Amino acid sequence: MDANRIPVHIGLIMDGNGRWAKKRLMPRSFGHNAGMNAMIKIAERAKEIGVKYLTVYTLSTENLLRPEEELEGLFGLFRKYFTKNVQKLYNSGAGIKVIGDISVLPADVQKLLSDGEKNSPEGCGFWLIFAINYGARAEIVRALNLAIEKGEKLDAKALEEMLYTRGIPDPDLIIRTGGEMRLSNFLLYQAAYSELYFTNVLFPDFDEKEFDKAIKEFAGRERRFGKI
Ligand code: IPE
Ligand code: IPE
Ligand code: MG
Repeated sequence: MDANRIPVHIGLIMDGNGRWAKKRLMPRSFGHNAGMNAMIKIAERAKEIGVKYLTVYTLSTENLLRPEEELEGLFGLFRKYFTKNVQKLYNSGAGIKVIGDISVLPADVQKLLSDGEKNSPEGCGFWLIFAINYGARAEIVRALNLAIEKGEKLDAKALEEMLYTRGIPDPDLIIRTGGEMRLSNFLLYQAAYSELYFTNVLFPDFDEKEFDKAIKEFAGRERRFGKI
């Protein structure tokens, strides 16, 4: 792989867990569990090829309206990840960031997420960024309200400082699994010049080989940013 053609930041819309489980006559939670395992492998692969930031769309603001039972299952997975799996990530020199409004999540999950951020090693070469109760519209509205409170007039740079993603470069590539061709309220401001890659593969089946295909496709794209 050409190191100059590796995206610095990848956004990953991990869709299709429910359908993957349904095909197996299993509950949706089974699909989410398989999705978490797939996510762990993709994060390892991303780090290995030199990606610096991987933002995983884990729970949207709209997903928070799903039935209590499904949400409880997802919170259970967060608990599992942030107690059992996170240490391995730290040991490899990687860190965690969380974007989104986590204040409405169960108190113990909030604590695990913020400790997950705080305990990240210094000078990480790779950041796994969880978008949890994240919505781009809510993010932009929040930023505007912060500016109003400060009585500040915004330019693009000042607005970017008030987004959850402050300090993080825009995603070069956004991958969506599961066959839908939409962004579903993910990083709408930051995605202005992102390359988009859609695949029908359901997220639990999205393995390193499928991920590498997306990277290869990205490497062949010509990014013009409006220039000629
Ligand atoms: C994506 O999978 C994961 C979350 C939104 C939490 P879905 O749960 O949306 O799976 P499908 O789209 O119903 O198959
Ligand atoms: C997007 O998937 C959100 C996440 C993957 C976390 P959805 O399944 O919620 O998106 P829609 O409803 O198909 O647009
Ligand atoms: Mg879905």
